[in-house]
Amino acid sequence: MTINAPRGVHDIIGANAFKMTELENNAKFIFARHGFIEARTPIFEDIALFIRSIGEQTDIVSKEMYVFEDKKGKKFALRPEGTASFVRAYIEHRLDMSYPEGKFFYSGEMFRYERPQAGRYRQFHQIGGEFLGNSSPSADAEIIIITADILSSVGIKELSIHINSLGCCNCRPKFRQALIDYFSSIKDLCQDCQIRLEKNPLRLLDCKIDSSKFTNVPKMTDFLCPECKENFSIAQDLLKSAGYKFRVDDKLVRGLDYYNRIVFEIRSSVLGAQDALAGGGRYDNLVKDLGGQPIPAVGFALGSERVILAAQETDFFEKKEKAKKIYIAVADKELIGDAFAFAIRITKQGLKNNKNISVYPPLIDKNFTNQLKFANKINADETIVFAKNEFDNGNLIVKDMKARTQIEIPISEI
Ligand code: HAM
Repeated sequence: MTINAPRGVHDIIGANAFKMTELENNAKFIFARHGFIEARTPIFEDIALFIRSIGEQTDIVSKEMYVFEDKKGKKFALRPEGTASFVRAYIEHRLDMSYPEGKFFYSGEMFRYERPQAGRYRQFHQIGGEFLGNSSPSADAEIIIITADILSSVGIKELSIHINSLGCCNCRPKFRQALIDYFSSIKDLCQDCQIRLEKNPLRLLDCKIDSSKFTNVPKMTDFLCPECKENFSIAQDLLKSAGYKFRVDDKLVRGLDYYNRIVFEIRSSVLGAQDALAGGGRYDNLVKDLGGQPIPAVGFALGSERVILAAQETDFFEKKEKAKKIYIAVADKELIGDAFAFAIRITKQGLKNNKNISVYPPLIDKNFTNQLKFANKINADETIVFAKNEFDNGNLIVKDMKARTQIEIPISEI
């Protein structure tokens, strides 16, 4: 009996691994330009951390967490997202002291027990950024811009940025009440919505089942207090002046409870149902709620698998991937030492000069004919042949494997 990977969990090999690394490298480059530093946090945490931060009634905590007990009966959960863990680390290490107005990024595996489908997995990867210690709309705008820039950096063009404001503890209760009044008048709400109506009425706004029944739903933007209104409006002005198009989406509420004020999602039409490439927003109360100082914060995370799926529409990764493949062959076995040393030397030179080549040293278990067959099998662009007569004259044979031509080139010129 063979054992396969669990449902919704994937091996990432070859071209897919290459794409993920490329995306992570691009993101790191953009983060560095904005002064972000890296943070790596554990893959599992005390379950209480996620319950207190993401919210007990959210789908993530109530339905989707991978929970386990250790040998002493202590309950842990595999991280379903990165913000809670990062904020725990931020408080634990007093990063507010060492990094006032600190910007941090992370990347890694997240785990949610969801129904798997294209773009939705049980183990997936996020790249995220968190900006702690600044409550201004310029921090909001910077986070949205970085998210969009990372997505554009892998060639995705059709991005739509959705933003909304969820208000603050002063204005949200009035909106919450207006929603309760409104939704209570609607008949036949689905089972989830009936529970949400009691615990978190905002979540009804993005119900996939009942949404067609909702017309003229109260809008948070009509309930914002003057300060929230001003912040939201400045963030929009900043995005506009930086040349980023967005739309205000009254239905955007996000699936995690820690948000206040601005929230956003960046979507791509090429993805179908799972169209959110990235999401985030402000969470000014979370650090305090988890036992830290009252420190404002804003952040985002993107789903790497979804971004890679969306980027398939472009030739970004394919173009990048095309390293020139060179096989080094030996026609006469006595030259194996010279050929092998040469292969290693040009590999290093390629690395040093940032040349996009991959070099395959000679395989001495194969005769010359089989080496050439191997070169074809790996789809080599060129084979450089060490052959006695030519080598004695200071030359190597360079075979163009695609054009099926060959020339002799002095070793010193290769
Ligand atoms: P989130 O919207 O839950 O936010 O997740 C961010 C992104 O992760 C989504 O937009 C999506 O691309 C990806 N994602 C989520 N679930 C799955 C899944 N099952 N399979 C594949 N991809 C998935 C957060 O996690 C927040 N921590 C973002 C944040 C950071 N807010 C403030 N700081």
